[in-house]
Amino acid sequence: MLSDLTLKDDCLSVIISGSGIADFDYFWLRDNARDPISFDSRSHQRELFTCEVDANIKPFTAVLVNNGMALQIKWPDMDDSVCYEGNFLAAYALPTPMLAMPEPTIWEAARLEDDAIRIAHLEVIADNGVGRLLDIISKNGFAVVTGTPRNMAAVSDLTDRIGYARHTIFGGLWEFEADENMSDSAYTTKELRPHTDGTYSHDAPGLQILLCVDYDAMGGASIMVDGFCIAAELKRLTPEIYADLTRIDVTGIYKGDGVILRAQRPIFRTDRDGILVQVSFNNYDRDTITLPRDDMRALYAGIRAFDRLANDRRFQWRYTLQPGDMLVFDNWRVLHGRGPFCGRRKMAGSYINREDYESAVRVNGLI
Ligand SMILES: [Fe+2]
Repeated sequence: MLSDLTLKDDCLSVIISGSGIADFDYFWLRDNARDPISFDSRSHQRELFTCEVDANIKPFTAVLVNNGMALQIKWPDMDDSVCYEGNFLAAYALPTPMLAMPEPTIWEAARLEDDAIRIAHLEVIADNGVGRLLDIISKNGFAVVTGTPRNMAAVSDLTDRIGYARHTIFGGLWEFEADENMSDSAYTTKELRPHTDGTYSHDAPGLQILLCVDYDAMGGASIMVDGFCIAAELKRLTPEIYADLTRIDVTGIYKGDGVILRAQRPIFRTDRDGILVQVSFNNYDRDTITLPRDDMRALYAGIRAFDRLANDRRFQWRYTLQPGDMLVFDNWRVLHGRGPFCGRRKMAGSYINREDYESAVRVNGLI
């Protein structure tokens, strides 16, 4: 509900019930007019050629309409008046926060309840099931979907329910089998220490899906580490190391299969407000680089501190996936690894881009 509309020299002032007095810059109001000439409501795209609007534009008139539920402005450069809904104005009364995702619940392994991260496949494919799955992932960083059909079609189906498969050097949907009898390192049964994928990509995969198709082995527990928890721990214990890891770029590299991919970002990537956005760490794929001596030493101190915590059981959730268990995790937050094993273990999986994961979170009403 709007009231007390005043046209000031450079802004329109109005009281919005529940929000108080709000001042709207005239140029902003003209730029965000939702009339059919300025804005295509079907495509949600701006039609206005903003740079041609007079920098000092001011309404001829502005009046409250529809019992204060909206206001109507007559602009000098338009024939018809433009209606601004009260809800629209209320949403933009304050600077818009870049609220990308729901607030994460950071965890140490012992504090993570199994019930909090497990969901049955039948529930995921039921109505609103993807929303429940995404709710678990956005809070905890990962989920285990149980009772999943053990085939690539199930990976494809879940991928498509969230977004679409990201095509990389590994293809779109992939399958791999680690086998101690095979010599290629791709089939290693050695321990895989916690890491994130795609440190060599400017836009690392957002979600990773890993389905256990077959398991006839000893060992091979999956390891999940909350990178945001490691960040919080470092910030608390050694703030100078945390600050260095938000500042110093690390280069990731993938060389082989006809490509040389390289990308750089800090282990802790933060936004301009200092909020942690992404954790990237893969000691396997870290390129050989030389930095100025102080930065080099600071980076190594950071890597030692980070990787000691990532390999500390206190931070490691461990679970041996059984056939039909599907891990779905946020690759911008959670590090993944696997214990050593003997025997046979066959997995299928896919990547989903970060923007598509975020979109699914929004579409499912989680933010
Ligand atoms: Fe990986």
